[in-house]
Amino acid sequence: MNKIYITTPIFYVNDLPHIGHAYTTIICDTIARFNRLQGKNVLFTTGTDEHGLKVEKAAKESQKDPTDFVDEVSLNFKNLSKKLEVKNTDFIRTTELRHKKSAEFFWKKLIDSNQIYLGNYKGWYSVKDESFYQEKELIKKNNLYETLDGSPVEWVEEKSYFFKLSQWESRLLEFYEKNPDFIRPESRMNEVKSFVKSGLKDLSVSRTSFNWGIKIPESPDHIMYVWIDALTNYLTSIGYPKIENDKMNFWKNCIHVIGKDILKFHAIYWPAMLMSINFPLPKSIFAHGWWTNEGKKISKSLGNSIDPNKMIDEFGLDQFKYFLLREVPLGNDGDFSEKALVSRVNSDLSNNLGNLVQRVIKFFDKNFNNTVTHSLCKEKNISKIQKKGYELINIVKKKMEKFEISKALEEIFFYVDDLNKFVDESQPWKSFKTNPEKAAKDLSLLIECFRIIGIILQPYIPNAAKKILDTLEVKESERNFINLCVKFSLRKDHKLNEPNQLFPRHEK
Ligand code: MSP
Repeated sequence: MNKIYITTPIFYVNDLPHIGHAYTTIICDTIARFNRLQGKNVLFTTGTDEHGLKVEKAAKESQKDPTDFVDEVSLNFKNLSKKLEVKNTDFIRTTELRHKKSAEFFWKKLIDSNQIYLGNYKGWYSVKDESFYQEKELIKKNNLYETLDGSPVEWVEEKSYFFKLSQWESRLLEFYEKNPDFIRPESRMNEVKSFVKSGLKDLSVSRTSFNWGIKIPESPDHIMYVWIDALTNYLTSIGYPKIENDKMNFWKNCIHVIGKDILKFHAIYWPAMLMSINFPLPKSIFAHGWWTNEGKKISKSLGNSIDPNKMIDEFGLDQFKYFLLREVPLGNDGDFSEKALVSRVNSDLSNNLGNLVQRVIKFFDKNFNNTVTHSLCKEKNISKIQKKGYELINIVKKKMEKFEISKALEEIFFYVDDLNKFVDESQPWKSFKTNPEKAAKDLSLLIECFRIIGIILQPYIPNAAKKILDTLEVKESERNFINLCVKFSLRKDHKLNEPNQLFPRHEK
């Protein structure tokens, strides 16, 4: 399928953006870029979740009108996207009119499908998670109930509309069986299945004790449950309720990237509601893990949030991104520390990649006037290392299809190791004195391999990859994965640019 739609969760505007928000966004941007380089048409949306009690409370605490408050905080998230240089095609805010219309229509569809009834909610609610909990999901600490993640809960009794979630148990389980890749990683699929098997209760989908949200059209004293409002954003962004055919093809190939904490909403509530209004489901949901800060859970009360803006200013955008993508397999939790970042960045980016490229091109510049001396384009005689370079993209593609971004990067850097080994063994600086023809050929070969590396690294560290490709004077139109073959190899007399430093070493 040539069309793909990637979404981040939309972020609550109760607080400043932190590393968790940056992480999800970076993952999506990397996947989006990777697909574009394969020639695919990509929609990539992110945005802000601006309704609900949590946001209303935060506005009150700041002594601001909720409308002004959300405008202000949403801007911080928009700016984060800019700072991360992500190429999203939409930024959606749930306070926009287009979204209100879409969520209202979605609600109407649920009513028309006879999925909603009026009742009374009596139970536990966590404002922090904007989630209802059954008592069996809570623990008691100091005589107070809290969630397993330590979120406080409050007892709520109010009139509420309910969605008939309990009716969808068997159809959900059937769907998971038929679509084993719907929820990934596999461990999360198992988690979801056992949650559904343990029994689903009807879901309270409106609140009456506060005002900040989308009003239920026929009962304006009810505010739509913030999660129904929020999940619909994925449809709003593609034009719901008037989705053109073309956009529908994007939807069928939609990937929701989320954090593991919001799996239940995406993998259970969302598909059940979509099925109930007879709407196709997205293709898959990938739940990533959580970052801790030097071993400690990141929380407002501990004040140990990690500011992505600060990290980027201090260490560089590509460096920050590389660390997050490479350090832990996608799906696992990770521990953030500046020490680990510096060590990863120095060893992989500064030493292995940066030094290699700079050393070779500088020498080439000095001794060969930065001009390729050999065309290495005869398919039959290309060397092992050049061939391996062209094949690398297939290995990387396989990893990316399985969301193994860290492994994809590992494979790319194994190849960088191969190139370093090739330099150590061929020693062009030495052979230059005794056999300049061989040195020239080896260096031309290395430069062609840098072209390969530069193209493959674009989704992960786009700025450094661009620097490499600019130095090699690779045409803009020839930087796609399709150009990773001998046909596009650099030819004799191709002139390079001056080398630039790729990654300064951090001494921290
Ligand atoms: N508004 C909801 C999502 C609605 S999507 C229809 C929400 N917002 S959030 O701002 O609280 O969280 C957004 C994402 O950030 C979640 O996927 C969450 O997992 C992620 N992270 C928040 N803290 C995190 C870490 N410490 N580490 C990694 N990601 C975490 O939930």
